[in-house]
Formats: sequence, structure tokens, C-alpha cells
Amino acid sequence: MAFLGVRAAMTASPTGRTAPFVPPVYPFDKLTPFAEIASRHAGGLVDLSIGTPFDPPSKAVIDALASSGAERGYPSSAGSSELREAAARWIERRFAVAVDPLGELAACIGTKELVAGVPQWLRLRAPGRDTVLCPDLAYPTYAMGATLAGCRAVGVPASSQGTLDLAAIDPEDADRALCLWVNSPGNPAGQLEDLGACATWGRSHGVVVFSDECYVEFTWAGRPRSILEHGLEGVVAVHSLSKRSNLAGARAGVYAGDADVVGYLAALRRHAGFMVPGPVQHAAAVALDDDEQVEVQRGRYLERLEYLAAALEGAGVPVDKPEGAFYLWVPAPEWLGGATGTESLGVRLTRWLAERGGALGSPGEAYGEAGSAHLRLALVQPMERLELVAKRLVQSP
Ligand SMILES: Cc1ncc(COP(=O)(O)O)c(C=O)c1O
Repeated sequence: MAFLGVRAAMTASPTGRTAPFVPPVYPFDKLTPFAEIASRHAGGLVDLSIGTPFDPPSKAVIDALASSGAERGYPSSAGSSELREAAARWIERRFAVAVDPLGELAACIGTKELVAGVPQWLRLRAPGRDTVLCPDLAYPTYAMGATLAGCRAVGVPASSQGTLDLAAIDPEDADRALCLWVNSPGNPAGQLEDLGACATWGRSHGVVVFSDECYVEFTWAGRPRSILEHGLEGVVAVHSLSKRSNLAGARAGVYAGDADVVGYLAALRRHAGFMVPGPVQHAAAVALDDDEQVEVQRGRYLERLEYLAAALEGAGVPVDKPEGAFYLWVPAPEWLGGATGTESLGVRLTRWLAERGGALGSPGEAYGEAGSAHLRLALVQPMERLELVAKRLVQSP
């Protein structure tokens, strides 16, 4: 069996790769040594590594999961009309954009699977193209999607303003591009993109722009913004219920935009059997109609971001509050010294926080070379856990 698997990988490789594919170590699996260090503190480890919600979904959403009666039959792959209409209503409320819930919007099983799958599906209808453009500091699944499709991921650097430097994209890479991924507010740094400029760039180069907006409800600098505000042609906005409604465990998201691209992906995904479970579709529709819970959650994240930023500053590690999302993107302070041969500065800062504060963060190199001197902290833990970290930082020598 193994022999056949290897042969298949070798002959099917569209980029001419001859070695069989070996999945890389999952970034969070590299954190075990730091988790062990942090766990030695009385009161235990405070886990700020993964951006997984700690706070509960609303009771109405939990009730909806149990009361849909949708367990028996197969659910709609593109999403029930209840879910799609709720998503379209939310887009209209948040961004004042009208999308046709049946023609310009469809469901996904959380957004990670969509992010990872888009390159291979786009490639099927544009076989001459083999490149995925994505920020060079980014959620790693954009590049992994390219790898899984046998494509190239090409990083787009940030300009001095922190937004994507679209002018830096090599015209040859643009010609080969299947899509451009943008992420606003961004993970890990929380920056807001110029989504109008991204949409314009995509249209003028004939490249579909996928805008991952899963943190949009947690926009701190001004109001939430979507690429859909700049027209639907050639763009697809990707939204998740995971962060907005604390529903990461239920797996629900939607994508909306250009009717041709959405229709193509929805048709293909139906053939492949991608389906959000029926009870989850019902619960997601209820969650999308609930803005009150989002307001409560915004307050929680803001309080935590401000509190931990102040505690870190007190410990000699200043960090700016992000423009959006719920991460602190912490630059290594000068006193930490330079990177050593084996450890990046971000890894050294991760170790420092585990030792001093008993907290686990995620070294910035997991988001690209450009992040190697940073540490990402996900503010998903309740205040009492953050207070424990702050107390340890004050007490440590
Ligand atoms: C930028 C970004 N996009 C997408 C996702 C995937 O979220 P989900 O699959 O839960 O919708 C995450 C999760 O952390 C993320 O940070």
C-alpha cells in the first residue's frame, strides 16, 4: 500500500516534484517544550497559543443545535436557505451590501477547509496557473493550500504602512496566480488591509481575490469592513462563525461574492460531499442573527488586550494594541539580545514568557519568516488567568 501511495504521489505531481509529500509538523505541536516549562508554575499553564474561543456561545445557539430536527436527512452542501438568508442579512447589516443568498453565497465547514481547498479547485479550471499569492506574514493555511494543490505559494510583503505592498507583486507571478489571499483584520498582526486596493488589483490582473474576514467583528480601528463593499466582481469574502459566535467546535462558515466563482465552488464542493451538518446550519443561522453576543465578546477581547498589553509593558515588553483581531503581536525587546543560531528571537521570547509568566504563546516564525522576531498571544483566556500571568511577571526576578 505504501508503495502504491508513493508512486501515486510521484506520478501525479504537477510541479515536477519527485519526492513523496510528507506533511510538515503542525506548528502548535512544536510548543510542547514551552508548555512543559509554563506548567511548572503554581496554578498551571495559561494557554495563549491557539486562537480557539474559550467563551461560550449564546444559549439560543446551543438550544438551536439540539432542536433543529435536521439530524436525519442529508444537509444542503451549499447551505440551507435559512443559513444563507441569515448570512446575507448579516452582511447587509454589517457592511450595507446586498448579496443574493442563493447565487452569491454558500456554506463551508468552518473556513480552514475552504482556505486549504481553494487552490486545487481553482486549478482544475485554470490548469495553466500554478501560483497562490498570500501575505508573507500570514495564517499558514494559505500557503499550505498551495502545497496541497501542488502549486507555489508566493508571499506578498507588507508596505511601510503595514498593508500589502501590491506593487511588489512580480508581473510573472500575477500571470501565474490562481488567487490572492488577503486577511483583514489579519492574523497574526491584526492589521487592516486596504481592501478596495486589493479588489482593484485583482480585477486589473484577472486574479480572484479571496478576503478572509473571520476577525471582522473584532475590528478596533473604526468600523468592520469587507471587500464586498467594493463590488462583488472578482472577489470572495470568507466568514467564519468560529470567532464571531464562539462556535469553532461546531464548524460553520460562509463565503460570498462573485456569482461565477461562488457558483463554481459550490457545485464542485457538492460533488465532493462537503456539508455543514444540518443541526449546525440551523444553529449558525441563529448565531448570525445574534449581534448582542458579539457585542459582549468584543468587550471581553478589548479588556483582555488592554490588560495584558499593560502587564507586558510593565515587564519591559511593550506592545501596540492591534487594529483588529484578538492577538497581541509582541516584538522581541532589545534586552532579549539577538537571535542565536538555533532559536529565533520569537522563540526566545516564547521561552521567556513560559519561564516568567507561565504562559504559552506562539512564536512568530509559524506565520512566516517576517514574523521571526515576534510572539503571538491569543487573548482567549478569561481575565483571572491573565491576572495570574500579570502577577507572575511582577513577582519573577
Ligand atoms: C486567519 C484565519 N482564517 C481562517 C481560520 C479558520 O477558522 P475556522 O476554520 O474555524 O473557520 C483561522 C483560525 O484561526 C484564522 O486565523
